[in-house]
Amino acid sequence: MDIPTLRTLVPVHGVPLSIEIAENWEAVEHFQAQPDDLVISTYPKSGTTWASEIIDMIYSGGDHERCRRDTIYNRVPYLEFRIPGLPSGIEQLNATPSPRLVKTHLPIQLMPESFWEKNAKVIYFARNAKDVAVSYYFFHKIVTALPDPGPWDTFLDYYMKGDVGYGSWHEHVKGWWEKRHDYNILYLFYEDMKEDPKREIRKMLHFLEKEMSDDILEKIIYHTTFDVMKTNEMVNYKTIPNDVLDQTISPFMRKGKIYINILQFSCTAARKKGNALELPGFLRELPIKCGL
Ligand code: A3P
Repeated sequence: MDIPTLRTLVPVHGVPLSIEIAENWEAVEHFQAQPDDLVISTYPKSGTTWASEIIDMIYSGGDHERCRRDTIYNRVPYLEFRIPGLPSGIEQLNATPSPRLVKTHLPIQLMPESFWEKNAKVIYFARNAKDVAVSYYFFHKIVTALPDPGPWDTFLDYYMKGDVGYGSWHEHVKGWWEKRHDYNILYLFYEDMKEDPKREIRKMLHFLEKEMSDDILEKIIYHTTFDVMKTNEMVNYKTIPNDVLDQTISPFMRKGKIYINILQFSCTAARKKGNALELPGFLRELPIKCGL
């Protein structure tokens, strides 16, 4: 079956990005970072919104009412975002007072140089390949600007070849992982946050050189649980009209669960697809509890 996944994607330095982002590439490349910018970087569907809400709550000192001042996509502008007719991520960021929170899905090699020149901090949030694939599949179903993903097996083939927006999951998580000591990067995992949010938020606080009482920390954990965020219009994307994001097909806050561990999936994938993801070697370096 012929699915048009690639039709809207254009390679930028070899990475497939949406045509709107590709057309605006020079502006992204020359984006001027500030030293106190905090970047939240993820491969799509890895819990970007979750990490963003946690970090905005940290920046707001645990004041959840303050976090309801605006939607998550306005509080944490999406650097490379561009859809004609809407303010671009860069326009939004240029209008945002410091300290800015910046969302990106860019692989590390495509990050604007000025983030490194200014030594800005980055929190990278990784999620296992299989749950990302499933979440990305449903996301293609609900975002009208994205092509229909077709049947799951077909979408999985595209995903495993890296023929989806932002390219290969493996290249993405690996690229950021390998450079985590070269720059100011805190590398965290969705699965670890699920397991022990207090421990992981403390890692964030340490990295951000912030202190917080246990009471406030508990408040942040509560307000960023899946169930609470699912009903919060400022983060569940219900403010986006159905003709853009059709949540009658599948909610943005879909399940928020861990269904399979990363090594199990990668081995199945490697067997099935001739080692297309080349995961096992890389995984030995990753501090993930594989549960096998
Ligand atoms: P599922 O589709 O598996 O449910 P992103 O924000 O990068 O687009 O990621 C979206 C994924 O993160 C969705 O995964 C969503 O449910 C999940 N998610 C969002 N908030 C979450 C939370 N508080 N806890 C756990 N998962 C969350």
